[in-house]
Amino acid sequence: MKQSAVIKGLGFHVPERILSNKDLEQLVETSDEWITSRSGIKTRHVVSEGESLTDLSHGAALKALDDAGLSPEAITHILVATFSPESYIPSAACALQDRLGLRGRVAYDISAACTGFLYALENARAILALHPESKILVCSGDVVTSRVNWEDRATCVLFGDGCGAAVVAAEDGGPHRAVIRDVSLASDGALGDLLTIRGGGSGRHYRLGEPIGEDFFVQMQGREVFKHAVRSMTEVCNGLLERHGLTTDDVDMLLPHQANLRIIEAVGKKLGIPGERVFINVDKYGNTSAASVPIALSEAVHGGSVQPGQRVLLTAFGGGFTWGACLLDF
Ligand code: UT7
Repeated sequence: MKQSAVIKGLGFHVPERILSNKDLEQLVETSDEWITSRSGIKTRHVVSEGESLTDLSHGAALKALDDAGLSPEAITHILVATFSPESYIPSAACALQDRLGLRGRVAYDISAACTGFLYALENARAILALHPESKILVCSGDVVTSRVNWEDRATCVLFGDGCGAAVVAAEDGGPHRAVIRDVSLASDGALGDLLTIRGGGSGRHYRLGEPIGEDFFVQMQGREVFKHAVRSMTEVCNGLLERHGLTTDDVDMLLPHQANLRIIEAVGKKLGIPGERVFINVDKYGNTSAASVPIALSEAVHGGSVQPGQRVLLTAFGGGFTWGACLLDF
């Protein structure tokens, strides 16, 4: 029997250190005016020396567990969506499992860049279909600045670090934040080169003693990515709503990936959802990749922007390309 999955708790964690647009003016030839008008970003949180994704995911996990009213011991599965684990081996999920003291639990990473949270939610739903008694910790975050080229003004001003977390379980009549009504996911690897980090992969080896090149950092064809992001998020949202016989009038809040204010506004406009029903926090955090959607969701819920009885439509787009949407009933 198909069981509904619910989000029992939400939380997020960002590094303390904040970089403003003015700070970036000291690093590259840019201006607060350019960054604000082209992206809507004013500040971003960035890790300090020695701070890793495990620190961020641990902070986010503890907050989500507290929000769910569960102790870490209740967790059966740990999923971490990221492209920037503390190390390649062990995985980000194993590092977090160890930090939480949860020896023996299932733990694995998911790689879907900025769409990672939606991919992880779908994984959690699949686990619950097999093992309804599971309590799944979904963390989704990135230390994007570990792979940012601080000499490339076209990319370095856009990103920030952070992690969001959700505790997902089967609906059992107990308290929960939201029912995960459905998820829709997609990908197109043929367009992968438009947003990529090639260096350090098995197609572009690290070699001892050789200097690393620009391709070891995020490289992006911004304008092309912009167009695909708007088109893909609009399409996947419409498709998911249609699947459920809904229209955008049935959506109380659109909560899109926070990469660029102009992308967010364009998606809202194409879907016919007015600005007051679109959640925005890109000004504070910049593009935090896999963390963007769960940070926004956690802020929206804990800040009172979403109320019980409301329906929220999440959508994301990222490197791969990957994209997706998710309907949540609060
Ligand atoms: O998370 C995954 C999804 N990622 C995204 O969704 C990002 C998608 N793309 C974007 O958000 C936008 O394309 C950007 C914000 C990256 C760029 O905005 P744009 O309006 O597409 O600008 P552009 O790249 O076409 O650059 C316009 C001009 C160029 O100068 P010329 O060639 O017109 O003389 C750039 O060299 O702005 C220049 N420029 C800058 N100027 C000041 C590029 N970066 C900067 C900068 N400061 N930081």
